[in-house]
Amino acid sequence: MNGRFATGILGTGSCLPDKRLTNHDLEKIVETSDEWILQRTGIRERRVLEEGVPAAELAETAARKAMARAGIEPGSLDLIIAATITPDSLTPSMACSIQARIGAVNASAFDLNAACTGFIYALHVAQQYIATGAAAQVLVVAVEGLSRVTDWQDRKTCVLFGDGAGAVVLGRVEDGTGVLASMTGAAGEQGGCLTLPAFHMTDTDREVRPHGKTQTIWMDGSEVFAFASRTMADSVRKVLEKAELSVEDLDWIFPHQANMRILQNAQKRLKFPMDRIYSNLEFTGNMSSASIPVCLDEAVEKSLLKKGDLLALVAFGGGLTYGATAIRWSMD
Ligand code: UT7
Repeated sequence: MNGRFATGILGTGSCLPDKRLTNHDLEKIVETSDEWILQRTGIRERRVLEEGVPAAELAETAARKAMARAGIEPGSLDLIIAATITPDSLTPSMACSIQARIGAVNASAFDLNAACTGFIYALHVAQQYIATGAAAQVLVVAVEGLSRVTDWQDRKTCVLFGDGAGAVVLGRVEDGTGVLASMTGAAGEQGGCLTLPAFHMTDTDREVRPHGKTQTIWMDGSEVFAFASRTMADSVRKVLEKAELSVEDLDWIFPHQANMRILQNAQKRLKFPMDRIYSNLEFTGNMSSASIPVCLDEAVEKSLLKKGDLLALVAFGGGLTYGATAIRWSMD
């Protein structure tokens, strides 16, 4: 156990927008094909927020589901962490908007930006609060409206991303269950591989955005691909080592959903069965921080997870950042 109190997931929730954008829809927008997208990424469709709908709406629904599943009232939450790179506004933060929407009047609230690794970082932070006794119940919501920062003229990125929200409620669990170990890291010197400017544009930022859009994602896909393939397997190994466990002990891997070929590379490096690497990429695309908690909630809905199962959650992304969590499932 890391600290005085063992910390585990008490409830999960998720929410995706209703609107689907298929590869065939994208064929009408940019020069691409269903075949190329499917073969190179594994994505068939993604969900996008309707114009005028705040991402906080998805976050609220996901949060309410997680609280209902955990049997927890909003008033008993001590802390809300929202992992996001696409908040509706910088202030109020997404976490404060969620707090207001659900009426979590006793909670502190803040946003955390670690891009696609945001959920892993947020779990790690939440666990420190709970383990030390600073908080008893924490809501982590990972929510993204990536369609709002997508350059719909750039075929290299617009086929990849989707919108959605996933949430978990964390609290004290039996010793020996819950979060067993976490690791997080960053490679800021490679940050230029994946950029989304906010209030300052460099000359490079302008050069790589020939369509004149300023707040859009730009990515050197193959650089990020190489980083991801390497760090995903390494992070799983490192977090298991910290927990004094090995790949053979794992029941499931819940990876960040960016590209099916990245998952296949990790599978080969770790020699772990592909059918135990959870993926919903085909129907959601890359939802950045929201990918892992949405997958967890789907797995709970499908009754795939048993109490006592050992899971590795693992992500990489903008920053560049990476991280993993080893968790002994504690929900019935
Ligand atoms: O969440 C964390 C951040 N994101 C990621 O982890 C993504 C990591 N990277 C990737 O998933 C892949 O690098 C991509 C899917 C982005 C790109 O796949 P790739 O196999 O690395 O393709 P590429 O960038 O090397 O491009 C190969 C060709 C190029 O054409 P030329 O220059 O060889 O003629 C591209 O212009 O494919 C072309 N291309 C496309 N063709 C049709 C790029 N995007 C498309 C497209 N449709 N959408």
